[in-house]
Amino acid sequence: MTLEDRREMPTVYEPAEDSRLLADTAVERVDGGVALEVGVGFGYVAAQVASATETRVVGCDINPEACVRAREAGIETVRSNLTDPFAADSFDVVLFNPPYLPTPPEEEWDDPLEHALSGGEDGRRVIRPFLDDLGRVLRPAGRCLLLVSSLTDIDAVVKLAADAGFESREVAEESFPFERLVVLEITHANS
Ligand SMILES: C[S@@+](CC[C@H](N)C(=O)[O-])C[C@H]1O[C@@H](n2cnc3c(N)ncnc32)[C@H](O)[C@@H]1O
Repeated sequence: MTLEDRREMPTVYEPAEDSRLLADTAVERVDGGVALEVGVGFGYVAAQVASATETRVVGCDINPEACVRAREAGIETVRSNLTDPFAADSFDVVLFNPPYLPTPPEEEWDDPLEHALSGGEDGRRVIRPFLDDLGRVLRPAGRCLLLVSSLTDIDAVVKLAADAGFESREVAEESFPFERLVVLEITHANS
């Protein structure tokens, strides 16, 4: 690969069907309070929610270029690994369209787009630690809207959420020939 090729490669995930499904669902179901979009990318989802509702939306992303792009889209954004830097009970809403494609180790290529797409061998490598820390940053009556694909095994994600102390239910879905996309609404169990 030449330096020229590398310059032309996208380094931030372009909004796609999954981004649109999450944005449309969030605009319908969220209004008010403080929301965090994890993995904010270009800021598409966060900007839709900020402009269509009364919600204050902040973003975070592990990819520094994504943080620049999201700020250009008007979203206050910090560089972070998942929810690590945020204080306990900070958010009424957490949104995440995670990297979810199952990817065998020999196909990992270690660049920012891989971090946007690859969910490791089972597709749940990033979802697992995300759910483990979600209960800390989400307020007691808060909720998370998590985009999940059938490629990632939706039932397995629901089980991970239950193991972390949450209830989940499907609130939106869209089917394609090769996958089904679902938005799970995740709340503290017994909330
Ligand atoms: C599928 S893309 C979604 C981008 C955007 N939210 C959208 O819907 O168009 C996943 C995003 O998660 C970010 N990401 C991956 N791992 C992360 C982590 N550990 N912490 C924060 N962001 C992460 C990627 O850099 C990428 O921007």
